[in-house]
Amino acid sequence: MKIVLSAVLAMFLVACSDDKPVQESTQASVEKETKVVEAPKAVEVKETTVKVEEPKKVEPKPVEPAPVAVKIEEPKAVTTTKTEVAKVVEEVKPKAQAVVKKIDGGALFGKCIACHGQNGEKAALGKSQIIKGWSSEKVMTAFHGYKAGTYGGAMKGVMKSQIANFSEDELKALASHISKL
Ligand code: HEC
Repeated sequence: MKIVLSAVLAMFLVACSDDKPVQESTQASVEKETKVVEAPKAVEVKETTVKVEEPKKVEPKPVEPAPVAVKIEEPKAVTTTKTEVAKVVEEVKPKAQAVVKKIDGGALFGKCIACHGQNGEKAALGKSQIIKGWSSEKVMTAFHGYKAGTYGGAMKGVMKSQIANFSEDELKALASHISKL
């Protein structure tokens, strides 16, 4: 009986001595695990201060005019405008022609009377023909000839300088005036 008890005791002791290292190793592994879990917490705090991206680059697109506004009824508007313009032209045309006719041939002839006489009754400088009673066409032929240097006598240079600065309309007004003298 003593032998059996001592054997059992011996086995118990052996078993106990075997248990200790197992418990220690388990505790050690538990401690390691807890350390591993704690480590990331310290790192995470830094990451919360990470830069925020700049929200500046939001460029507003230029507002394009709504295409609907362009849809004016152009054909009608143009037609109306053309009609209106035509009416205005019809109204203005006679007035414009009247303005052209209003170039005062009589006033322009004031420059001529020193040589040709108040009514064109004189032979200018004793050389020219008497232009009183000339038709408008005959006077215009003389004017164009003087301007071109293809008309006149010895003193045609005098007349060329006299009419050089007159426009065609002014010459017509002059010719018209002379024809009525
Ligand atoms: C400085 C004097 C002088 C003045 C100013 C003058 N004329 Fe003359 N005119 C002459 C003479 C000179 C002639 C003839 C020239 C020639 O052909 O030899 C002449 C000729 C003419 C003729 C043609 C007559 C012809 O003999 O065939 C006409 C038309 C005429 N003049 C118109 C005018 C009118 C219009 C003006 C005003 C804008 C004017 N003259 C101003 C001296 C003048």
